[in-house]
Amino acid sequence: MRVSLIDIENQFDHHLIEEGLDLVRATTEYTVQQPDLAHFQVHASNPVYQVDILMLQDGLVNVKCYCAPFKKSKYCKHAIAALFLLRENLQHARKSRVKSRHESTVTDEALRKMKITDLRKFVSAYAVSHAVFKAELLANTLHLTRKPDYASMLLDLTPIDKYGQIRINRNNIKTLRGIISILLKQAQQLFKEKALPETFQILEPVINHLYRLIAKFPAYQQQLSIELKTALRLFELVCLQPMAPRLQQAAIKMAFDLSSRESYFFVKSTLPVLRLVEPFVLEQKLRKSIIHLVEEKIKTDHQNLIAWSTLLLRWGKAWHLQLKSKEIFNRLISQLPAIIQEMNQQKDYEDLLYVLQLLPEDYADKTQYRISLQLGLKAALLLSSEKDIVQIASALSRQYFEIEAWEALLHSNEAAAKKVIRHLQQQYVAGQHEPADLLILHALNVLHLEGDLLDRLMDLQDAELMMEYDRELKKDHSDTVVKFYAIYIRGIKEAYGGLIARQKLNNIFSHLKSLDLYSAVADKLKTMDTRKADNQENKVIEGFVFDLDGVIVDTAIHHFQAWKKLLKEIGVTIADEDDHHTRGASRMESLEYLLNKYGLKKTSEEKLELATRKNEYYLKAIEQITPDDLLPGALQFLIDSRKAGLSLALGSASKNARGVLEKLDIEDQFDAILDGNDAKESKPDPEIFIKASAALHLDPSRVVVFEDAAKGVQAALAAGCHCVGLGDASTLGAADLVVASLKDTSPQQIIKALS
Ligand code: G6P
Ligand code: MG
Repeated sequence: MRVSLIDIENQFDHHLIEEGLDLVRATTEYTVQQPDLAHFQVHASNPVYQVDILMLQDGLVNVKCYCAPFKKSKYCKHAIAALFLLRENLQHARKSRVKSRHESTVTDEALRKMKITDLRKFVSAYAVSHAVFKAELLANTLHLTRKPDYASMLLDLTPIDKYGQIRINRNNIKTLRGIISILLKQAQQLFKEKALPETFQILEPVINHLYRLIAKFPAYQQQLSIELKTALRLFELVCLQPMAPRLQQAAIKMAFDLSSRESYFFVKSTLPVLRLVEPFVLEQKLRKSIIHLVEEKIKTDHQNLIAWSTLLLRWGKAWHLQLKSKEIFNRLISQLPAIIQEMNQQKDYEDLLYVLQLLPEDYADKTQYRISLQLGLKAALLLSSEKDIVQIASALSRQYFEIEAWEALLHSNEAAAKKVIRHLQQQYVAGQHEPADLLILHALNVLHLEGDLLDRLMDLQDAELMMEYDRELKKDHSDTVVKFYAIYIRGIKEAYGGLIARQKLNNIFSHLKSLDLYSAVADKLKTMDTRKADNQENKVIEGFVFDLDGVIVDTAIHHFQAWKKLLKEIGVTIADEDDHHTRGASRMESLEYLLNKYGLKKTSEEKLELATRKNEYYLKAIEQITPDDLLPGALQFLIDSRKAGLSLALGSASKNARGVLEKLDIEDQFDAILDGNDAKESKPDPEIFIKASAALHLDPSRVVVFEDAAKGVQAALAAGCHCVGLGDASTLGAADLVVASLKDTSPQQIIKALS
């Protein structure tokens, strides 16, 4: 009796199949012997039966049993059971092919003889009900035939509707995914056996089919992506193996065709297919056409702009190709940080460093710039590239004061790390910028530069910071540490009432006790207090009050330019000499003066509008000011004055003073701030300076005012303060003392000169 071994189930009556399968289940002991190449014998000993099976062409077999029913009807349950057992046996042999490659050639031989068209017909007919099982069978045997057509098979197995259109839905998607994953398992097995062309034969149609399905049914993207990822990862592994040139070409073709499709998309956490075949793309012509493809994608596929740009930059560099289109390059510049992030995801560290070089230092988005540098440092560290580490870590520590980056720098190049810190020490005086201070302190400590560390801590007068370092410093510099705390504690006691001061100091006292410095600090405080009492008598000057515009910051010029512009708009060109009359005077006062001088009559509403307009011009002009606009020596003078124990106030006629101080980041330098909102009368009226002295709890006779305007000098003197004129003696001659600029003097010199 002739039967197809593959299709046992469909060649017999349903009842007979059931009977056969029952017998299979009941057969507990049996052997399959192979007396010669195409002859198999199934011997069952419990229950007893024996069946001969002869292999014919095309997967057909001739089966023979010796029982009475067989003799009569040419079939019996033994024959059917034996067929099942043999098939099972052959499949099993196929699965353990690696182990028993030689022994199972016979099985392979037999399966190879089956006609692929028969297999396909069979599988598609039963795809709906038993698809997964059939696919497994097919996957196990198909690769043995010469030209397996997985592409058509996949199509056959994909459900179609009555119009012949592919239809997948919630019910059949599971079966479809099952089939695909069985094929992928088969591909994985083949890959393990180093059968690369066979692996690719399965992967190519599977990947193509999945891409097509996802493009057609985006709703199933998430589910199908699971198989797609597996397939792409396996493809990646294949591409990493030494491959025959023909296979390489096939892989490139697949990647190129797939990527050219309009519906191509990148799959998360896998590399783009074109990147996988990149090592085989050696011909210049091919490279150019790939670059061309990517350039086109950049223009059209906006959704994946970054992914495509990443590839373009990578290949531009690796293949030494110029990016022809300027438009593309410009687009890339704005995408560079995103590209860097993408490369980081793809673990493309060398390219990342290359792209980082393309990123302009003055890149507008500072946050993105910083992230790029951080990723760059990570890449440089992973690749142990000292040159890059030094460059990037220096930038991160100089511009963003990153302690970790500086540490990395120190590890790879100590000299460079020291250089950065020296630079920062010069650039930032203590207290000017907190993050800079934190890095500097940390670094000085790590570098054991204790002298510098102490100096900065003394300048900062911040007990919390000192507490971080004093345990070490105490060993060799206990005197200085004691002095620091004594000064600090005295400062707190002077600034706050007893109860609050004690609350604030509690922490410090217990810290000092733990350091065993408590009594030393207490002693120091006592000697300081007696010395202070001695000095009190002849101490004349205890406070400084500073005008703002023209004294601390270079904004006087912007005030004058704003007036000039305004008056020009109403038809008048004002004289340079008018600066002396508007400098120091309030906004309205200045406007009145100018209108008067140039004979312009305005109603009070008009005046209000003009004053507002002038202020807008002024605000626009100072929009961009930063601590760099502080006048030379001003900040240092403030810091030194504070160190000298003086109380400091600001006394400005400007209503914008607080805003300006904020931009300069120096509000903290003053004990009191008085601005244009605090005085009704404009300088030369003394009101503002009387109020400033009062705010410092000082008699005006103990206060020195610093002024750049003649009106200001007059006001200071009228208040009963001392006055230092800053600028030209010809206009400021009334002052007690005139100096060119704060950088040319020191608090001590001023006090000495005026005492
Ligand atoms: C300072 C300037 C003056 C200015 C005045 C009012 O003292 O020296 O030129 O007129 O402030 O400024 P405001 O910002 O309130 O217009
Ligand atoms: Mg001024």
